[in-house]
Amino acid sequence: MELINNYITDNKDKFVNELIELLKIPSVSADPAYKNDVAKTAVVVKQSLIEAGADLVEICPTAGHPIVYGEKMFDASLPTVLVYGHYDVQPADPVELWDSPPFDPVIKKTELHPDGAIFARGACDDKGQMYMHVKAFETMMQTDTLACNVKFMIEGEEEVGSSNLGIFVKENKEKLKADVILISDTSIIANDTPSICVGLRGLSYVEVEVTGPDRDLHSGVYGGTVGNPINILCDMISELKDENNHITIPGFYDKVEVVSDTDRAEMARAPFSEENYKKGLSINVVDTEAGYSAREGSSIRPTLDVNGIWGGYIGEGAKTVLASKAYAKISMRLVPYQSSEEITELFQRHFESIAPDTVKVKVTPHHGGEPIVIPIDFDGYKAASAAMETTYGKKPIPQRGGGSIPIVALFEKELGLKSILFGFGLNSDDIHSPNEHYGIFNYLKGIETIPLFYKNYAEIKLK
Ligand code: BES
Ligand code: MN
Ligand code: MN
Repeated sequence: MELINNYITDNKDKFVNELIELLKIPSVSADPAYKNDVAKTAVVVKQSLIEAGADLVEICPTAGHPIVYGEKMFDASLPTVLVYGHYDVQPADPVELWDSPPFDPVIKKTELHPDGAIFARGACDDKGQMYMHVKAFETMMQTDTLACNVKFMIEGEEEVGSSNLGIFVKENKEKLKADVILISDTSIIANDTPSICVGLRGLSYVEVEVTGPDRDLHSGVYGGTVGNPINILCDMISELKDENNHITIPGFYDKVEVVSDTDRAEMARAPFSEENYKKGLSINVVDTEAGYSAREGSSIRPTLDVNGIWGGYIGEGAKTVLASKAYAKISMRLVPYQSSEEITELFQRHFESIAPDTVKVKVTPHHGGEPIVIPIDFDGYKAASAAMETTYGKKPIPQRGGGSIPIVALFEKELGLKSILFGFGLNSDDIHSPNEHYGIFNYLKGIETIPLFYKNYAEIKLK
């Protein structure tokens, strides 16, 4: 432990500077314009694994962006940890809302990060959190403390649905053989309140197109007789939820897990200040499903949200036009035991059924993913909990998260492996938003805690 901490102290500037270099490459997976940058990032990640001490590292091409695979298998009698992370990032737009350029990292102090935080797209999600594992591995190699075999699988398509990783996993079950999966791509409650994420929501994502007349029309000449697709799309969307924030799609809640009152009371014990939550977002009130708390609304209940809506004239000044088409992108976050495919189908059928005769609608499904719950009574969780308890001086609180990492459910299904969601970010780190950042305290704490996970896990497994 002392060896490890000394190595981290001696190398913390190097660790930070390397991450800054990695953050300079705009590995935006969603936008084909960045394809070369994504590929370049994979090469840098590969190089970092080699330098850290992995003895087999390769870039595995896919139909999309490549997967970086690396391993250090040194003792067949020890357990194997499979580390998963992603080196791709979300698009940086709207770029004008960033206080500093998204791919030009800067370190600034904030109220929650008095030791400083690195501001850049991907700082927390997930380059910073992924790179902690590379640096923890380096630390264990340099201090001769690596307690488990390790495999790394770092992908470049998490932010676009991981469909090629799904294929890779199915085709490489032998190569990916391990005892547990370790992922840092979630958050903790606060820097003095560690937690381990024990659930993720699934996702259904659709794009809808509503078509009225066959071309854009003069809104005076035709307004009042021709159904306006934008108005109609808005009506249809508002019909998808009732006054209790209940989603009205028939069958939507049929399979939703009923969380017992005991479990809800247990979850409610985790510290949470609704006042600070509202203040942090500059909102006056939280807006949850009737009968559920803010935290329940963002974890154990499903959602339906419009992510984007467009149509008609949005340029300078006014143009009097009745548009031919209106569009929206809609996401539904799912909870156990909802199925992404089923919910997408239910949405499609319902949305088509509520369309008035004045328009035609088209629903196009995008990527989805299944929800997951992680137990707290297995060896992986115990090792992770004990590791955090050592480095934070407090037992971490198990807490379900509201985001999605679709590959986690697939890992369980295809590899039979459970994942430890060992995230170290804060919800306020603005992932996917302008001014994303990652605390240096969080980064170094992760690098310090990960080796203890390996140590504890090997001890528990070999007992
Ligand atoms: N790291 C996030 C997911 C996350 C963040 C989970 C915080 C829990 C807490 C991940 O990169 C992500 O953004 N996932 C997408 C899903 C995807 C299919 C695009 C999401 O949740 O929107
Ligand atoms: Mn992520
Ligand atoms: Mn993300």
